[in-house]
Amino acid sequence: MTDNTFSTSAARFACWVTRREGRKFLQLNPQFSEPAVPQAKVGRDDWASLYIHIPFCRTLCPFCCFNRYLLDEAKARHYFINLRKEVEFYIQRGFRFSDFYFGGGTPTVLMDELLGFIDFLKKNFNVRQISMETTHREITPEVIAALKKAGVNRLSIGVQSFDNDLLKAMGRLVGSGEEAKEKLKMAQGQFDTVNADFIFNFPMQTVAQFEKDVATFQELGIDQATFYPLMPSPHKKSRLERRFGEVETSREKDFYEVILRELYRGGYKASTAWCFSRGSRLIDEYIIDYDDYVGVGAGSVGFLNGDFYVNTFSLEKYDELISAGKLPIVSWRHLSEREHLRYYMLTKLFGMSLDPQKFRQRFNEDANHKLWWELKFFKTFGLVKSNKDNEQIEVTPKGMYTVCVMQKEFFAALNTLREHYIEKQV
Ligand SMILES: C[S@@+](CC[C@H](N)C(=O)[O-])C[C@H]1O[C@@H](n2cnc3c(N)ncnc32)[C@H](O)[C@@H]1O
Ligand code: SF4
Repeated sequence: MTDNTFSTSAARFACWVTRREGRKFLQLNPQFSEPAVPQAKVGRDDWASLYIHIPFCRTLCPFCCFNRYLLDEAKARHYFINLRKEVEFYIQRGFRFSDFYFGGGTPTVLMDELLGFIDFLKKNFNVRQISMETTHREITPEVIAALKKAGVNRLSIGVQSFDNDLLKAMGRLVGSGEEAKEKLKMAQGQFDTVNADFIFNFPMQTVAQFEKDVATFQELGIDQATFYPLMPSPHKKSRLERRFGEVETSREKDFYEVILRELYRGGYKASTAWCFSRGSRLIDEYIIDYDDYVGVGAGSVGFLNGDFYVNTFSLEKYDELISAGKLPIVSWRHLSEREHLRYYMLTKLFGMSLDPQKFRQRFNEDANHKLWWELKFFKTFGLVKSNKDNEQIEVTPKGMYTVCVMQKEFFAALNTLREHYIEKQV
C-alpha cells in the first residue's frame, strides 16, 4: 500500500468513527426538565462564550443547512425582544460572558435591533470580543461604520464563490461575484479580522473554478478565509441532494489540496482545518476558543460541562417558551465520559492542536492516557505529532484533510438533526 492509500484509508476510518459517534452524540433526550437546566460557574466570564443566532435572511439559499427564515420585519423585531429575555434567563442563572458570536441567518438584516442588542450586552457584560456574520449584500459604508462603532472585531462575509454562473446554479441571490469583491475590499482593514466564507465540492463546481476563487481571494488581500466542505445531511437524501444531485465525497480532497497548496504559498496559516488566516487573527469557532458555550436564539446549540443542549428551531415555539419564562431548550444529552473526551479531541484537533495541560485541567487526567487508543491511531498514521518544544499534540500537514472531513462528518450529523427539527418545527 502506498503512503497516500494508507492516509486515505486512515481518513476513511476516522470519518466512519466520527459519523458513528456523531449519531450517538445526537441521540437526544426530548424531555428537557429542570434538573438538566444549565448552571454557570458563578463569577467567571471566561469559561463559556455566547453564540447568538439570528435566523432571518432577505433571500433563502437552497443549499443552506442552518436555521433561517425569510425576513419578516415584525417577527424579527419581536425575536430580538425574546433574545434579550433569553440572555436574562442565563444572567439569572449566574452566567457571565465576554466573547460573543453572532451567526445566522444574517444578523445584520435589522441594524437598529442588532445595535440595540449589542448595547444591551454591553450594559450587562464586560464585552471583549464580538464576531459577526453577514452577506456582502448587507455591506455599506454606513453599516461598516456602525459595526465598528459598536465594537465588532471580526466581520465574516459569506461569498461562496466569485463565479456568477456557479452562484446562479447554487441559487444564491445575494449579489454577483463582482459585488462581493467590492464589498470585501470596502471592509478589509476596518476590523481586526475580515473573513470570507467559501463553499467547496458543490455538485456543479469544478476544481478550476475553485482555484480561481482562491486566487481572487488572495489577490484581494483579505485577512482570512473559511472554506466549508458542502454539507448535506447523511442519514437520508437530504433536501440539498434532492435539489442539486449527489455530493461526491471522492472529489473533496482535490478541492482541499488547492486550499492547502495555494494558501500556504500565499503566507496564510491554518487557524482551523477550514479557516486560514494571515497574522494572528480571531476565528469564529467558538467551539475551539472555548470548551463550553451557550447558544441563544431559535436553532442554536450549547455545550456546558459535558451536556449538549438544543434550542427549539421553531419561531412560534421559541416565543411560546420564552413568554412562559422558560429556557427554549427542547432536547439535551449528558455525554458519557468517552463521548466527551472524543468530542473534546475532535474540536481541539479541528483547531490544529490539543494542549495536554488544558486537557489535564478539564479532565484531571493525562491526555495520552485517556485518549491512548485514539492518539495512537493518529500518530501511527502520521496525522498528529507531539511537539517536543511546547508539548502540544499537533495536526501534521498530512493529517489536515482527515481532520477536515472528521469535522464535516460531525457537522453533517448535526445537520440531520437540524433538518429533522426544521421539518417538524421542534
Ligand atoms: C450560515 S451562513 C451565515 C452568514 C451569511 N448569511 C452567509 O450567507 O454567509 C455562514 C456560512 O455557512 C456556509 N454554509 C451554509 N450552508 C452550508 C452547507 N450546506 N454546507 C457547507 N457550508 C454551508 C456558507 O459558506 C455560509 O457563508
Ligand atoms: S447561506 Fe446565509 S444568506 Fe443564505 S440562507 Fe443561509 S444564512 Fe441565509
